Amino acid sequence: MKTEQPLALLGGLTPSQFMKRHWQKKPLLVRQAIPGFLPCVNRSDLIALAGQEGVESRLIIDSDKGWKMRQGPLAKRSFPPFSQKKWTFLVQGVDLHHDGVHALMQQFRFVPDARLDDVMISYATDGGGVGPHFDSYDVFLLQAHGQRRWRIGRQKELLLQPGVPLKILQNFEAEEDFLLNPGDLLYLPPKYAHEGAAVGECMTWSIGFRAPQEGELARELLLGLADESFDGVGDALYRDPQQLAVSSPAAIPLSLSGFARHVVDKALKNPQLLDSLLGEYLTEPKANVWFEGTQAEPDLSGGVQLDRRTKMMYDDKHLFINGESFKVGGRDAVGLRQLADDRAITEHTFKILSTDAKVALLEWAGAGWLKPL
Ligand code: SIN
Ligand code: CO
Repeated sequence: MKTEQPLALLGGLTPSQFMKRHWQKKPLLVRQAIPGFLPCVNRSDLIALAGQEGVESRLIIDSDKGWKMRQGPLAKRSFPPFSQKKWTFLVQGVDLHHDGVHALMQQFRFVPDARLDDVMISYATDGGGVGPHFDSYDVFLLQAHGQRRWRIGRQKELLLQPGVPLKILQNFEAEEDFLLNPGDLLYLPPKYAHEGAAVGECMTWSIGFRAPQEGELARELLLGLADESFDGVGDALYRDPQQLAVSSPAAIPLSLSGFARHVVDKALKNPQLLDSLLGEYLTEPKANVWFEGTQAEPDLSGGVQLDRRTKMMYDDKHLFINGESFKVGGRDAVGLRQLADDRAITEHTFKILSTDAKVALLEWAGAGWLKPL
C-alpha cells in the first residue's frame, strides 16, 4: 500500500498523515470517503448470516421497558417487525463470509494486518442503535445505507449504567454531532464516547481493529513456550552444596527461588522463539473459521491467491500462516512476503520459488488456505 498517496478514503490525507495526526489520537470525519458507495450486502443477506451457527450476532431493542439484548444465532422470527422503531441487529466478522466486504476491508491495510480485525455490519430501524458507549479499539464507521446521526465526545468519565445488558454510558455528553450519508466515514480512536442513531432505516459498516492485551498476550506466549523444547534449558538438576542445616524446614530456600527465576529467564532468552510464538498467535484463525481441505492437487503455476479467511504475516526470519510458522530466507522470503502483503502472487513470482516453497504452497492449497489465481 502506498503510504504517501492522498486518499479520498481519508479526506485527501495520505495514510502517513492520517496515522500521524489521527490514529489513536483524534476523530476524523470524511464526507464521501467512498463516493457512490453501494453496499454489496443487503438486509436479507444480513438476516441470513445472523441466523447461522458460528456467526456472532446481537439483536438490541430500545423499548419503553429499557434495553433488551439477545445474542445470536438469530432466527428470523426473533426480529421485531421492520415497521417498529428503535431496534438494531449487528453481525460480526462479515468479511470472513463475503468477498465484497473482505475487499472493502483491504482499503484499510495502511494499518498493519496484526491490528486489523473485522468488518461488523449493523442494520437499524429509525432511531435504532446500541446507545451511548465507548469501544476499547479504534474503529472506522462507514455509512453504507440510509442515514445515521453520530454524536461524539471526548469525555473522561466513562461510568456505565448498572443493570443494563449492554455497555451504556451513565453520563454521555456529546461535543459534536454529524449526520452521515452513504459513503461518509467517521474514524474514532479507542475510548472516544459515541452514540449512533439511525435516521430512517440504516446500515453501518464498522471496520474494527484489535490490540493484544498485556495479560492475554503473556499467557498465550507462555503457554506456547511451555510446549517448546528449550535450547540450553535441559536436564540439569538444582544443586545446593552450600545449603546450611535448617531449623525451619518448611521455608523455601532463597537459592531455589533464584534457580526458578534463572531457568525461566534462560527459556525466554531465545528471541526467535518468542517471535515465532507471537506470529503464530497473531495469525491464529478465529474460533469460528474452518477451512475445507481438498485431495485434488491444483495447478498453482499460474499464480496463487489467499483464501479471504487466511491470515498470513511475516517478520524478518519467519513466515506465519494460519497459526503456523516457517523459517524462510532468500528468494522464498521475497516471494512469500509478497504473497502475504498482496494476498496473491503471479505466475512470475511463483516461478522463482524453491521446490520446498512450492510444495508448501501445494500443502496449503490442500488445506484450503489458498487457491490458484
Ligand atoms: C452500530 O453500528 O450501531 C454500532 C457501531 C459502534 O458504535 O461501534
Ligand atoms: Co461503538
